[in-house]
Amino acid sequence: MAESNHMTGRRILLGVTGGIAAYKTAELVRQFKRAGAEVRVVMTPDAGRFVTPLTLGTLSENEVHVKIFLENKAGSWTKHVALGLWADLFLVAPLTAQTLSKLVDGACDSMLTAVALTARCPIMVCPAMDHDMYIHPAVRSNLNTLTERGVTVMEAEHGELASGLIGQGRLPAPEAIFEYASALLIRLAKQRGGPLAGKRVVVTAGPTRERIDPVRFISNHSTGTMGFELARAAARRGADVVLVAGPVSLETPEGVRRVDVESTDDMHRAVMSQHDVDIVIMSAAVTDFTPAQPSDSKLKKEGADGALELARTTDILADLGSGKKDGQTFVGFALETDNGLENARGKLERKNLDWIVLNNPKEDGAGFGTGTNRVTLLARDGRTVDLPLLPKAEVAEAILELAVLNKALEDLDPLA
Ligand SMILES: Cc1cc2nc3c(=O)[nH]c(=O)nc-3n(C[C@H](O)[C@H](O)[C@H](O)COP(=O)(O)O)c2cc1C
Repeated sequence: MAESNHMTGRRILLGVTGGIAAYKTAELVRQFKRAGAEVRVVMTPDAGRFVTPLTLGTLSENEVHVKIFLENKAGSWTKHVALGLWADLFLVAPLTAQTLSKLVDGACDSMLTAVALTARCPIMVCPAMDHDMYIHPAVRSNLNTLTERGVTVMEAEHGELASGLIGQGRLPAPEAIFEYASALLIRLAKQRGGPLAGKRVVVTAGPTRERIDPVRFISNHSTGTMGFELARAAARRGADVVLVAGPVSLETPEGVRRVDVESTDDMHRAVMSQHDVDIVIMSAAVTDFTPAQPSDSKLKKEGADGALELARTTDILADLGSGKKDGQTFVGFALETDNGLENARGKLERKNLDWIVLNNPKEDGAGFGTGTNRVTLLARDGRTVDLPLLPKAEVAEAILELAVLNKALEDLDPLA
């Protein structure tokens, strides 16, 4: 599963049709889930004869959609539009000859065919059927039509078929479909263009929470806005962005893959599990201390002496910095109330960063909970760039241009 980390946070809509190979989709759902993707399933009514919605619903941890019209369920008519907009990839596997011909005709008689007409994401299909069906001119012509319309067709394998015949028509193994889908998404990201096309960017955002007991935690006031704006700015420049977010209430920026975490340890794991990363921007306000002995039951007021023993949390930046490879760019944030420049430069050196973004929450309009920020950027080569007070979206643009794309301050339009 070499490409598995490219699936983190991806939204995969799996369409299952009524072919004998539908049983393999249970394993396919597991492959995507294991790799950190979110999976939803739509099935044709006949697919349910081969694999049950209960199986795929349980494995995907989401409701399975079959019919367009649901009795006694108000509002369900919009789902086919919502699902098509939700997905990063609509993967139909296995694709029967029957549904193939419906896709070519633009039929809309089930949730699956309706989604195929409304999906704005890339569509990939895995046709699977008996050999004679597979080589039939009608099927070949239908597959060609889909290809001409931009659908990606993963051809069936040669081998023993359910009919007992040997020939082409077999659905590839779940691992092979998974790898093919993963490679397709990477290829499409590279084709999107922009100065960061083909670059993998990890951004952390928001606070982390350290549990004291089941109802209490230690955290901070971070809203995650700065990190979300950075993720948005990187995605707009064509990057493949994974946003590792602590508990925040913000919409995921378009084109960004999001991984939600709670504690500093969770965030550390999520960041370290990303591979082949070109750029890391650590804007999260990580909670530096955690209760030394979190309690499994709610602490009682009575008998407590008010003291809470704390331990240091994992230093994500330092851990990342120690494993830094040539060509990688690491940007950190420093939130300092005193001796800002000195402390920030020290942190930049210690953690092996290329740039550090310094801000002071005591300054008007800077830090947490404001829509603006006033930052100073310090580079490893000694440069110091003061930015004026700006909306966080513009601060994010400037950080991307200066620290990631290495432009000079004079070249930045919004700041000129
Ligand atoms: C046991 C059995 C296995 C089948 N396997 C396939 C298959 O592998 N590929 C295919 O195109 N049709 C297959 N069919 C035919 C489809 O089930 C049939 O065309 C059905 O209407 C497909 O509907 P759907 O595409 O809406 O799911 C099979 C039928 C049966 C009875």
